Parts: sequence; structure tokens; C-alpha cells
Amino acid sequence: MHTHTPFTNLAFCIRTFGCQMNKHDSERVAGMLEGLGALPVDAIEDADLVVFMTCCVREAADTRLYGQVASLKNTPLRAGTPLSKRVVAVGGCIGQRDGQKLVDELPHLDVVFGTHNLGSLPRLFEEALDEGGHHVEVLDAGSSFASELPTAREHAWAAWLPIAQGCNNFCSYCIVPYVRGREKSRPLEDIVAEAEGYVAAGVKEITLLGQNVNSYGRDLYGSPRFAAVLDALDATGIERLRFATSHPKDLTDEVIGRFGTLRSLMPALHLPVQSGSDAVLAAMNRRYTRAHYLELVRKLRDVLPEIALSTDIIVGFPGETAKDFEDTYRLVDEVGYHQVFTFIYSKREGTPAASVDDPTPRDVIQGRFDRLVDFVQKRAFEANQADLGSTVDVLVEGASKRDAGLLAGKSPKNQTVHAPLPEGTSIEELAGTTVRVRIDEAKTWYLAGEVAEGSEPPAEAADGR
Ligand code: SAH
Ligand code: SF4
Ligand code: F3S
Repeated sequence: MHTHTPFTNLAFCIRTFGCQMNKHDSERVAGMLEGLGALPVDAIEDADLVVFMTCCVREAADTRLYGQVASLKNTPLRAGTPLSKRVVAVGGCIGQRDGQKLVDELPHLDVVFGTHNLGSLPRLFEEALDEGGHHVEVLDAGSSFASELPTAREHAWAAWLPIAQGCNNFCSYCIVPYVRGREKSRPLEDIVAEAEGYVAAGVKEITLLGQNVNSYGRDLYGSPRFAAVLDALDATGIERLRFATSHPKDLTDEVIGRFGTLRSLMPALHLPVQSGSDAVLAAMNRRYTRAHYLELVRKLRDVLPEIALSTDIIVGFPGETAKDFEDTYRLVDEVGYHQVFTFIYSKREGTPAASVDDPTPRDVIQGRFDRLVDFVQKRAFEANQADLGSTVDVLVEGASKRDAGLLAGKSPKNQTVHAPLPEGTSIEELAGTTVRVRIDEAKTWYLAGEVAEGSEPPAEAADGR
């Protein structure tokens, strides 16, 4: 039962851009607004309150936001709204970066908040409802973790759990340290308490979040202690444990070793390389070499030969030569990734790389990018062939977007898996459970097969935890 608040029966809609940290922040925003009696809706047209959780890591996301907010001005109010005007807020990384500038350029915007004061949003909304006008509040640093706020999770069985926020690495192309602030780790007890709560509530998969989880604890305990976090999470009895993101310079042998020993730690690792050229890595301020990265890959495969690796690559960093690009291409070949997220370099004002001029023509960079994307797809297809004929545990997420008669879920290696819904079952009852799927088709972006006999109850759930 909610007591009556200014939000009672208002409809809200959140649009989220950017990384998992932002998606997680959106779940906190949804949790707060629902707690105050507002109701979530999918379509912006149906919403009284609109929140944009924004990203500015590349220019494209930036431009899109300004366009979307501008177009809202002409969207009619929903039928039956108690408001005379839709109330629109921008938060996330563009809110943090641009603050007041946003309302100067988009006068029909009502509220701006940043990455350090999610918890202020209800108050800012309330002020806008009461007084009209612009309500902008952006803080320089966070006093608390958003995790102290309630959350409304997208899936009941999966949770994101931030263990650190901010970033101290200052890769020369990257705006994140400027919009998320300095790295701040959460005390281990808080992390474990939150995880235990999730396990008790039936959550099957936890993904630990941080811009660089590998340096967790440096600010708290003096030395990185990420392996201890993994141990403590495994001990909660969670079925599946994942984490993102890992900076290669801070990936320790202890953490690598955990892939061989921890029951819950899934055999998949996102390890952004950015470039395969030592010259470019140095100019990016990544502080590792190609050889060091390949050594990490070798150690990981020694511990767990089937581990699925994914990465991020930036093409066209200022000064990248044809030879530098070939080094990247060769590295992709050598590693054999399951997935590669490829980005064309995007100049971000305020970062060191933004002041470096690049003579390389745009179409040359585009050509490198297209070649890499083709190659990445070919190698991803090849990597998936290894699972043909095997039986994998699939955590069911819902129906496939392609075909409602297919269930879709994730393998331990984080591959998307499709299978026909077994006779006599429904997506509603299978969602959030683990079924075993015999793989008979391996494509570039997914595996497909048949649910194996004896999937119910799932093998892991029966082991008494
Ligand atoms: N903290 C994470 C995520 C950073 S943002 C990490 O270090 O991996 C996600 C990805 O966006 C980065 O890995 C990088 O590949 C890409 N990226 C960041 N800044 C960029 C820029 N200015 N231009 C193009 N891609 C960028
Ligand atoms: Fe950006 Fe580098 Fe920090 Fe990742 S590690 S968020 S790429 S500065
Ligand atoms: Fe984007 Fe901010 Fe994440 S800039 S990538 S939403 S930290």
C-alpha cells in the first residue's frame, strides 16, 4: 500500500542509453518512482514523467539524445493525465557533463540531474511539478552508492550489482572518468549483503559491475581484492556469476585462477583490448602491451580452455597507421573471440586525444572498420562451432524475438541459445529457470537446438543450495 504522494498514479517512462552501469541506474530510478506510487509505461506518449538516462561515450549517442528530447516538445499529452504539461528529465552522463547547458539549449526540459545524485530525482521532479521552471542539480562527486536506493529489476532472476563506480584510468580517448568521477569501491560487506538478498529472492545470475572491476578495493583496502569479492559471491550460492568490465593491466593471476575453481563463475570474460598495436596502446594510455594481453589470454586458456572471450576495439584512433590496424586484425585472429564490439573512434571534447589531429581520411578508417567487422563475424561463427553436438545449460530469458514458439536464453559462455518450447510448457513457467539444450545449429550470433529430456528440474537447482 502506498500513501498518497505527488507521484501517485502518474505514469513514467525511462529511456536508457549506454552501458550496464546506466541500465542499472535506470533500475534504481524506476525503483524510486514506483516506490512513490508512479506507474511504469513503455511508450513515451503515455507518460507524464519522462527520464532520459544518457550516454556520451561516443558522439552518436549524444546527438540522438538532443534529437529525442527536442521531438518530445510536439508530443501530445496522454488522455486523462492530471498534468498540464509533461515533465521531462535528463540524467546520466550527459546530464553530468552538460548540466545547465541542456536547459539552455532545450528550454522545454524541466529537470537535469547527474551520475552522482540519482536519489535527488524525486525531489527535483516534485519541485518541477509544484513550481514549473528548470531544476538542475549536478554534483561533483558522489556521497553514496545508488545501491542504497530501491531497485525495479528488468528480470526477477538477474541482477546487476555495482561493486565500484568511477574510473581512474584516463584512457586518452575516454570521457567516462570525467562524467563518472574517481574510482570508489563499495565495502565488501555491503556487496555480500546485497548479493545474499538477491539469492534469497530467487535471483539466478548476478553481474558485478564497475568500469574496472579488477582494481576493486584499491581505495579501500590498499590493494586490489577482486578475487576476494568473487570468492564471497560464490559462497552466497548464486547459480551464475559474471562481471564487467576488466582492464587487462589489472587482471591478476588470482582472478584468472578463479575461472578454474569457482563453481558459479561463468566461463566467459569481456577483456577490452582496444588495439593490437603497441604504439596505439601507448597513445591510448592503456598501460599494457600486445604481448602482455596475449599472455593473459594464454593464462586464461590454461586455466579454462573453453573460456569464451569478448572484447572492445576502437578503429581509427588518431594516428593509427595501416600497420597498426594490421596488428589489431592479427590479434583478433590470434585470440579467436566469441564476440567483438567494434567502434570507430569518436572525438570527445576534454579528453587528451581530442587535441591530436589525424590525417587519416574518413573513408580509409571506414574501410578498416568494415574489414574488421566482417572478420570478427567470421571468427565468431567459427568459435561457436565448438559447441555443435554438445549439451549446454541455458538460463531462459523469454521467447525469442524472431519466433514466439522458441525460447531464448543464455549459455554459460553467454551465447544466445534458441530452442522450441517443449510440449506442455510455457515461457512464463520456464523464464528464469535453467534447461539443458542439445545444440544442433551454431550461427554467428546464436546457437540453436532442442531441450534435452530430464531438464526439469534443472540440474544445478537440485544440488541442494
Ligand atoms: N570501462 C569499460 C567501458 C568503457 S566504455 C572499459 O574500460 O572497458 C566502452 C567502450 O567504448 C570502450 O571499451 C571503448 O572501446 C569504447 N570507447 C570509449 N571511448 C570511445 C571513443 N572516444 N570513441 C570510440 N569508442 C570509445
Ligand atoms: Fe574509459 Fe579507460 Fe576507464 Fe574504461 S578504463 S572507462 S575505457 S578511461
Ligand atoms: Fe556511456 Fe556513461 Fe556508460 S558515458 S558508456 S553511460 S559510463
